[in-house]
Amino acid sequence: MSTMPSTFHLPADTSRLPMTLPRLHEKKALGEPIVMVTAYDYPSARAADSAGVDLVLVGDSGAMTVLGYDSTVAVTLDELLVLARATRRGLKMPFLVGDLPFGSYEISDEQAVATAFRFVKEAGCDAVKLEGGGETSVKRARAIVNAGIPVMGHVGLTPQTATALGGYKAQGRNAGAATRIAREAVALQEAGCFSIVFEAIPSAVTETIMPKMEIPVIGIGAGPAADGQVLVYHDLLGIREGRGAKFVQRYGDLLDDMIAGVTAYAEDVRTRRYPGPEHGYSIEVSELAEFRSEWP
Ligand code: KIV
Repeated sequence: MSTMPSTFHLPADTSRLPMTLPRLHEKKALGEPIVMVTAYDYPSARAADSAGVDLVLVGDSGAMTVLGYDSTVAVTLDELLVLARATRRGLKMPFLVGDLPFGSYEISDEQAVATAFRFVKEAGCDAVKLEGGGETSVKRARAIVNAGIPVMGHVGLTPQTATALGGYKAQGRNAGAATRIAREAVALQEAGCFSIVFEAIPSAVTETIMPKMEIPVIGIGAGPAADGQVLVYHDLLGIREGRGAKFVQRYGDLLDDMIAGVTAYAEDVRTRRYPGPEHGYSIEVSELAEFRSEWP
């Protein structure tokens, strides 16, 4: 007997293949915009996967978006690994990057490599990201790359060191600062990073640096010249209070929908509209009669 179903359907989209580093670089070479989004759990990962994004970042922004800290500084490696494992379980196609949290890579190359290994071995990440383009970050990036783990750099506004940068504000807005960012980006590229995030820098500064960048540049508040864009999941879907940064474009107001849903549920419970007969389970009449006769 044949095991072939009588109607055989090809997968809906045969062009979708798991994202790899060569495919990412091919996208840059072809000028195809690269799409990256953050995710922190199984449902956000499933949404990113189904939407066909190229890269998913388990950002340390999860400290604020899902763990409720007031900055990214306090989140621990173990906390981010829990989020990364849940995200991994929800992904098939996108390339998964884990964000090294503050304090988990700065002390030594050994510490940085050990932390990166945990993201790969315990959470199934394909790569890690670290912040900053100064001497220490470049050295750590090189050490992790040499250990065989792909690294994404991150320059411009680096939230882990926002206090030292004077707060959450755009960077590179004078010639000296723009030159420093350009040098950092090139240094991270030379250290072997496969890609780099430019955050909150003037569009014209990105445009000026781009000809020197052989690796894909992913922008967030860095203008349209970057090879791709990243947004924080909760910002783009409106699962947050307040407006967010200038560069955020909202594609939903899910927090409003969530509040409306829970409010309607609470109202239905309080007015006894929920649960209705359709939500209940039945029992055979005879079983019920026996139960009632036995029950005091
Ligand atoms: O943690 C994060 O979400 C990030 C992105 C903004 C790039 O680092």
